[in-house]
Amino acid sequence: MRNGKAWLIVGALLCMGMTQAEDEFRRLTDEGRRMSGKIIEQIRGELLKELERTGPLRAIIVCKYSAPEITSALSRQHGMRITRVSLRPRNRATGEADAWEQQVLLDFEKRQARGEKTENLEHAEIVQEPAGRFFRYMKALPTAPVCATCHGQNLSEGVKAQLATEYPGDRAADYPVGSVRGAVSIKKGL
Ligand code: HEC
Repeated sequence: MRNGKAWLIVGALLCMGMTQAEDEFRRLTDEGRRMSGKIIEQIRGELLKELERTGPLRAIIVCKYSAPEITSALSRQHGMRITRVSLRPRNRATGEADAWEQQVLLDFEKRQARGEKTENLEHAEIVQEPAGRFFRYMKALPTAPVCATCHGQNLSEGVKAQLATEYPGDRAADYPVGSVRGAVSIKKGL
């Protein structure tokens, strides 16, 4: 009897621990969602403004300078690492996905092929790495029609020429509208 009671208490404590961990995971996932939503909105806003004002040649500068500025400002502000990554990056120095991100991006492509909407694809996980425990979150970036100007299948001669000068090793063209262009990736130490 006494033993049974002890187990009951152990069980209850374990359950409490688990719900606490679940709550924490849910809170982190919500934060990841909020953060990636902010980034997607801000970058799209800058892009649309620039495309309208000066056309695609100047707007290339938005993706080149404004996007990294937006992500690093938010990273500093919120104490996490926020990047944009891709399986075929335009800028290898900043856009290359690490092993975990590559797996998630491949999985996004599979889920999209099975019929999930690109804009709904996300993945959250707590990962143990040699450097410690991290919360990691990714949100897919669909190739919208506006993105196709610089990542799509029919680039104008002007855009092609500018990309060739600025990104000699470019692999980020030829994306059909609706496909997974890449993802926002968030990493936070726990
Ligand atoms: C006016 C041209 C232009 C448009 C429009 C554009 N991009 Fe880009 N994109 C670029 C350039 C240039 C880079 C490389 C930026 C750098 O040097 O870091 C880039 C980089 C990226 C990256 C980082 C990974 C990589 O490939 O280096 C992602 C993700 C991305 N773009 C997604 C998008 C999405 C999604 C849209 C539409 C909402 C979009 N882009 C619209 C020009 C553009």
